[in-house]
Amino acid sequence: MRVGRVICRSAVTLGVLTATIIGLVDAQPQIGTGDVVADRQRLMKLNGASLGDINAKLKAGQIEAIAVNAETIALNARHIPTLFPPGSLSDKSKAQPAIWEKWADFQANARNLEAQAEKLRDAARSKDAAATEALAIDFGKQTCGKCHTPQADGKTFGPLFRSLM
Ligand code: HEC
Repeated sequence: MRVGRVICRSAVTLGVLTATIIGLVDAQPQIGTGDVVADRQRLMKLNGASLGDINAKLKAGQIEAIAVNAETIALNARHIPTLFPPGSLSDKSKAQPAIWEKWADFQANARNLEAQAEKLRDAARSKDAAATEALAIDFGKQTCGKCHTPQADGKTFGPLFRSLM
C-alpha cells in the first residue's frame, strides 16, 4: 500500500510542520505592555517632551544636542501605526474613529514625522546651525500639526484627532 504510506508520511510531515509553525507563533514576543492606548499615550508624551527639549536647546544655541531628541521622535514615529490597531478606542483614549476611516492619511502623517525628524537629526549632527534652525523653527507645525491642528474653539485639535491637553 504505497499510496497509503505516502499519504501517511505526508500527514506526519504536515503535522510536524503545523506544530513548528504554531511553536513559532507562540514564540513571538509580546509587543508593548498589552494596553495599546497607554502605550501610545506614553509614546506621545515622550514626543511632547522631546519637542520641548528641541525648542529649549534651539534657544540656548545647543545645536548638536538636538540630534538625540530628533532621533527619539523619528523612532517613535515609526511605531505610531502599529500602536493604532483598528478600533482601539477606550474611554481613556483621545483618538477619533476617523483615524481608521482615513488610515492612509494617518500613516502618511506618521511617515512625514519620521522623515522630517530624521532630517532635523542629520542637520543637528552635522552641526549646521542654520539648517537646524530652519528645520526646527516650524517642526511641530509641519509634523505633529498634521495630526494635531488647533481648531476654532481653541480646545479640540483636528482634522482627525482630539486635544493634546
Ligand atoms: C499620525 C498622527 C500623529 C502624529 C504625527 C503625532 N500625534 Fe500625538 N497623538 C495622536 C493621537 C491619535 C493621539 C491620541 C492617542 C490616544 O489618546 O489614544 C495623540 C496624543 C498625543 C499627546 C497626548 C498623550 C496623552 O498623554 O494622552 C501628546 C502630548 C502628543 N500626541 C504629542 C505629539 C507631538 C509632540 C507630536 C510630534 C512630535 C505628535 N504628537 C505627533 C496622533 C499623532
